[in-house]
Amino acid sequence: MSSRRAAGPDKCTFAGVGKTRDEIVYALREGVYSFNVESEGELARINDVAGSLRIKAPIAIRVNPDVDAKTHKFISTGKSKNKFGIGIDRALEVYEAAATLPHIHIRGVQTHIGSQILESGPFAEAAAKLAELASVLKTRHDIEFFDFGGGIGIVYDDALASGSKDWWEQSGTARRITPEDYAAAIIPALKPLGLRILFEPGRFLVGNAGALLSTVQYVKHTPAKTFTIVDAAMNDLIRPALYEGWHEIVPLKNKGTAPLKMDIVGPVCESGDFFAQDRDIPELHPDDRIAILSSGAYGFVMSSNYNSRPMLPEILIDGSTIHLARSRQTLEDLIQGETPLPS
Ligand SMILES: Cc1ncc(COP(=O)(O)O)c(C=O)c1O
Repeated sequence: MSSRRAAGPDKCTFAGVGKTRDEIVYALREGVYSFNVESEGELARINDVAGSLRIKAPIAIRVNPDVDAKTHKFISTGKSKNKFGIGIDRALEVYEAAATLPHIHIRGVQTHIGSQILESGPFAEAAAKLAELASVLKTRHDIEFFDFGGGIGIVYDDALASGSKDWWEQSGTARRITPEDYAAAIIPALKPLGLRILFEPGRFLVGNAGALLSTVQYVKHTPAKTFTIVDAAMNDLIRPALYEGWHEIVPLKNKGTAPLKMDIVGPVCESGDFFAQDRDIPELHPDDRIAILSSGAYGFVMSSNYNSRPMLPEILIDGSTIHLARSRQTLEDLIQGETPLPS
């Protein structure tokens, strides 16, 4: 379950492909602004649960426009072969069916074609494909909003340099997308609709704001490679293992040292437990600290206790204020809730 909250419960939409009855009850009691409906089964269940609470559930159907987002296949969500939403060819028919359900209030239409999208073309294509449907829905069902999802990609390669305005002016368009590019791609299709337009940007807001700090434990030279073994692991940041996510890695000191080709790896017993492979990075030694950049999105939230590793603390830096936003888990935390067999 994921929810997007703005000013209060009525500003929150509920996304997630398989909403359970309990989640639907919770969202309705909280006064959810709208459910993003992912299937006809889910629509029927939402109607049923709302009926049992004697209320109407506000909904938008998540429409799958069958657009190639040109991103990694694990984070592409708007192709017909992806599990998300209801296909654009059937969407109107499902809206007509929704209109006959007694405990459903049709409020909008929603889409989300994927994540880490660096080209404006797929956004333009999705907006154009859905605009016609949205216009019909406005006339027939008086919808009030069009939620266009998230997906704007961030800079991973050259993350540090992209902190400067000059970088954006000189980098060329192939390596990044700006909010202006995004707006220019979708406004022509969306503005004439006269609907409230909602966005769900995630990574773009926080991705570059976070760094995973780690300490080098060992440096192992083998005939094939140099492995720098650090104390962070795939359970702390799974993007490299899950979808070959690329993160810039910088030493906190000695940045000027001559680069050495190395793998930066974690201690977990998985060959997928790496943060960089065959990368030129200034030579590192035990106890040196590194920053794995752009870890602010899909970092901590995707972390786990795999290999009995307690989760890391999260530290918020606001100007000169350092705030412990979440403390480090302890080994006791990991076994809390386990029940021994009665003897
Ligand atoms: C429905 C929905 N909206 C928005 C987002 C945020 O995507 P991004 O971080 O790429 O902006 C996601 C990410 O999984 C999502 O599933």
